Amino acid sequence: MKITMHELLQWADEEKFGVIAFNYSDIWDLLGIIKAAEAEHAPVMVMSVPPVVENIGIKYLYGMCNAAAESAKVPVVPHLDHSFSPAMCFGAVDTGYRSIMIDASMKSLEENIQTTKKVVDYAHRFDCFVEGELGRIRGSNCEGVVTDESKPFLTEVEDARRFVAETGVDSLAIGIGNAHGFYTERPNLNIRRLAEINEAVDTKLVLHGGTGIPAETVREAIKNGINKINVGTIIFNTHMKTLKASLNSQEEFDLKQHNCIIDAVAEVAREWIRVSMSNGRV
Ligand code: 13P
Repeated sequence: MKITMHELLQWADEEKFGVIAFNYSDIWDLLGIIKAAEAEHAPVMVMSVPPVVENIGIKYLYGMCNAAAESAKVPVVPHLDHSFSPAMCFGAVDTGYRSIMIDASMKSLEENIQTTKKVVDYAHRFDCFVEGELGRIRGSNCEGVVTDESKPFLTEVEDARRFVAETGVDSLAIGIGNAHGFYTERPNLNIRRLAEINEAVDTKLVLHGGTGIPAETVREAIKNGINKINVGTIIFNTHMKTLKASLNSQEEFDLKQHNCIIDAVAEVAREWIRVSMSNGRV
């Protein structure tokens, strides 16, 4: 089922649930995510990160996730996640994506505004929804770039106000103590800062680094303004570990070997959907 990002996030905002946006890396984990969303009667987002775009190609990825959106019994939004390059964003829009992210958060505020605005101006001509990022999300990002821990990581309220006003982004990923990858200690999100940013800007807010954030903290974040939660590491990890165990346990290869990935990913994705309270909405 197709739905626009504006409709999806408006719905989530009104009914006070979070939308889970899952990273996928091939058809098998994508199918697992769709299976979970259908079993939980939940809308869902499916996102590809640049290394996957570089490996598979934006047209193949769009073909796959667009087919998922057309055939699933629940609303599905394909999304380009964490593109650091405006050119990759333009390519995604030209291919058909109507939801993308430009991440220029490693640049200065001025440069981040300039780069993001360039992408917004292009994407909005095609009614494409754009997510920007401001602040520093800790850990190692999808390119393996580790955040410089010596710099402040919380998104500043005034910067957020200016960034949204000057770029016209449709949603904003913020740094409130969240991190990509597995957390090495219990995540301690600054919910107060989240609430202040939510008060200051009239745009949808996104929480990256979902893997490892406890359910009660995710729900607290949703209550205080988060509309979309990104979950990747646990999907990639489940995918690879399951396939490895399955290959190691058999002498002969089997053409249905990948089905174990679908089931294992679906189980993990179902849990996340329930954490975000997006289950039972369709
Ligand atoms: P995790 O890999 O930590 O779940 O974060 C995913 C993410 O934020 C992708 O944008």
